[in-house]
Amino acid sequence: MEKTRILVTGGTGYIGSHTTVELINAGFDVVIIDNLSNSNIDSLDGIEAITGVRPAFVKGDCTDFATLEKLFADYPGIKGIINFAASKAVGESVEKPLLYYRNNLTTLINLLDLMPRFGVKGFVFSSSCTVYGEPDENPVTENTPTKKATSPYGNTKKISEDIIVDTVASGAPFRSIILRYFNPVGAHPSALIGELPNGVPQNLIPYLTQTAIGIRKELSVFGNDYPTPDGSCIRDFINVVDLAKAHVVAVRRLVEDKTLEPVEVFNLGTGNGVSVLELIDTFEKSTGVKVPHRIAPRRAGDIIQVWADPTRANEVLGWKAESTLADTMVSAWKWQQHLREKGIM
Ligand code: UD1
Repeated sequence: MEKTRILVTGGTGYIGSHTTVELINAGFDVVIIDNLSNSNIDSLDGIEAITGVRPAFVKGDCTDFATLEKLFADYPGIKGIINFAASKAVGESVEKPLLYYRNNLTTLINLLDLMPRFGVKGFVFSSSCTVYGEPDENPVTENTPTKKATSPYGNTKKISEDIIVDTVASGAPFRSIILRYFNPVGAHPSALIGELPNGVPQNLIPYLTQTAIGIRKELSVFGNDYPTPDGSCIRDFINVVDLAKAHVVAVRRLVEDKTLEPVEVFNLGTGNGVSVLELIDTFEKSTGVKVPHRIAPRRAGDIIQVWADPTRANEVLGWKAESTLADTMVSAWKWQQHLREKGIM
């Protein structure tokens, strides 16, 4: 039987590369497009080493309509798209809002525009728990009201969700699944792919592992005076391989016409809120490596606490986050050591 072809935009990036591995393992034929602005071509080697298959790769920018048009012509029969091609640094988005609106929204509009012409049936979109802002109650379900975005990055996620809903409602001949990620962390257990941040990491885990290996002097814990049990912020840290597997289920559901609504929305989280201090403690206990850290002032714009109610994804998708936080921390640490062994950092 011929393999179902899936386009993964941003497929050499952190979540894209892990999802490509799971798609290949599940028997899909993957085509990647990436402009390599925040990823490295070497992740194709990692994907190949893990799966034995090197996915087709197009170096290109999804904001360029002609590039995408050519891709769909060169790779006929794409049935589903998983769209990871987007900028994601919250702080940078405040400095350069137009870059974020242009990248994230033009990419989305180009893809949706081309889908009917090339018979693509399903669109999986990477959204974020950022759409819930600071929720009045935790855990959040998909029906928890969304709030005004606190950054241009967050706003692109909200606007993108609206664009998808409006386009599908207009009668476009495709369906969509919107996945709202909580905090994706960790790496493939093989340590052959993982997160490769540019410059000084802004996110917690890469900063933590870089501190543990000695690249950074100490980790700043941004605030210990929040109204939480230990005073630090609380997040729902979800293993990236678990997250990747949810995309396989989602895209299969779309191409097999199993969706119950034209646009379905799912929270992807573990259901457990973990504080920043608890996370550091889990890392230290599971790896045996100390992380020098100190309490620093709060970071502007941080949400105090948010964690998922993943019941809908568990029941409707039949997907569940399975990794323990300890195993996830070990995977993040193995990846950091791999980067050191390779002389990358
Ligand atoms: C943010 C975005 C999220 C986005 C993600 C990936 C919001 C509200 N959240 O998540 O949508 O998908 O980035 O870019 O816009 N921390 C420290 N020290 C550090 C770094 C972080 O204490 O050096 C703390 C933060 O204060 C926060 C937690 O760790 O409480 C997680 O931070 P981070 O990894 O940056 O992710 P979010 O801000 O939760």
